Amino acid sequence: MIKKLAFGAVLLASTVYASSVNIYSSRHYDTDKELFKKFEQKTGIEVKVIQAKDDALIKRLQTEGKNSPADVFITVDAARIQRATENNLFQAIQSDVLTSRIPEALRDKDNRWFAITKRARIIAIRKDSGFENKEYTYEELADPKYKGQIMVRSASNVYNQSLMAAMIAHHGEEYAKTWAEGVVANMARSPKGSDRDQARGAAAGFGSIAIMNTYYLGKLASGNSSDKETVSKLKVIFPKFKNGGTHVNVSAAGVAKYAKNKENAIKFIEFLTSTEAQEIFAKGNYEYPVVKGAGISDLVASWGTLEDDNISISDLGNNNKKAVKVFDLAGWK
Ligand SMILES: [Fe+2]
Repeated sequence: MIKKLAFGAVLLASTVYASSVNIYSSRHYDTDKELFKKFEQKTGIEVKVIQAKDDALIKRLQTEGKNSPADVFITVDAARIQRATENNLFQAIQSDVLTSRIPEALRDKDNRWFAITKRARIIAIRKDSGFENKEYTYEELADPKYKGQIMVRSASNVYNQSLMAAMIAHHGEEYAKTWAEGVVANMARSPKGSDRDQARGAAAGFGSIAIMNTYYLGKLASGNSSDKETVSKLKVIFPKFKNGGTHVNVSAAGVAKYAKNKENAIKFIEFLTSTEAQEIFAKGNYEYPVVKGAGISDLVASWGTLEDDNISISDLGNNNKKAVKVFDLAGWK
């Protein structure tokens, strides 16, 4: 009898939390699960997560309105962050931890969202193609000397839209349209497939230059033997804008508009910017940290040094509609 009681007490102690925080997240990585668990262990705050695609979660938050149980919303890409902000799904918060740790270009000026990880949109070039031994600008990808070489996914993809948004921020819509026409003329095939498929295509010799996000190369490198072979055939190059750096995009977190556990929500986002959490994101998912001093994976480090472009995430989001229009005008499918 005593034994049974004691067992019951232990069971209770391990499952009862003082309070909780409800996360809506469109990220679906093991690193995030590890971070949720770490936060629970550190704070005694239970993390409850609902995972779905970005636009589905945005719709859900809109539909739920005041009745939404969400305390934190985590989403990926500048355009979606902008959409959530425009739809008033976040609330402004005050956190010295967040404003001091996250660079200005990577957070909302009104403190409604904060970037938690970065990825770079780079080019991976087949090592025996003859194109791999130089530095690149994004602008020159429209040069006819790369005819038949460029592999890139469709214009409906938000990563491409944000790259185009950056091109518009640097040079205006007219230039961006001419640039897109040049890239379309250089494509090895009509856009199809994922970022990973562009890498596979370039490695297999359909074209030579794949435009893709860094972390997908990391994922291929830790995949099956044919994906590992793909990565071994490619050289990573960080292109830059003529007057800027390499295009970066982010995942961001914000406190939901109708959060019932606001204090816990802020605590949770602050935890995501700790060096420990930043390194779990970066090393586990081949991303880049948003705070200074946090380490990256050896593989990502072996590709070279990332120098961020100077366009803010807000400006990328603001230019999204123009980007979609320019793609359309340029015939980028
Ligand atoms: Fe992705």
